[in-house]
Amino acid sequence: MRVHHIGYLVKKMDKARNAFFGLGYTDCPEPLCGVVYDETRGIDISFIEKDGYRVELICPKNEESKFYPLLKKYKNCAYHLCYETDDFEAEVAQLQQTGWTIIDEAAPAPAIEGKRVCFMVNLAMGIIELVEA
Ligand code: NI
Repeated sequence: MRVHHIGYLVKKMDKARNAFFGLGYTDCPEPLCGVVYDETRGIDISFIEKDGYRVELICPKNEESKFYPLLKKYKNCAYHLCYETDDFEAEVAQLQQTGWTIIDEAAPAPAIEGKRVCFMVNLAMGIIELVEA
C-alpha cells in the first residue's frame, strides 16, 4: 500500500484553505482541483499539497453529515491516513484478519474519481482509509 493522502478535518473550508495556502500549500491537480461537494457524505472535500504531501481537507456541511461527530470530537485536525492499494478487496479482507474493523463500507468517492474507498479502525492506531488504485 502507498500513502495517498492525509485526511484533515476542518470547520470552515475557505478559511482552512487560505491558512494552508499561507503556509505554502497549493491546490492539488489530482484527483481533483478546488472544492468538491460529496453529497452522499454531506461534506466538502478539497485536495491540497506541499513538498509531495497530499492533504485532503474534509468539511462537514451540516449536523446531519456522519462526519459531523468527528468534527465535534477532533476539531480542526488530521485524523486519518489514506492508502492506495492495487488489490482493494484482498487488502481489506487481509486487514480484517489482522485486527482491523470496517467502520464505513466500501463506497465510491466522488472526490477521488469515483474510486471505492473503505474506512477501517484499529484500536492501536485509529482510523485509516483505503482507496483502490
Ligand atoms: Ni481521505
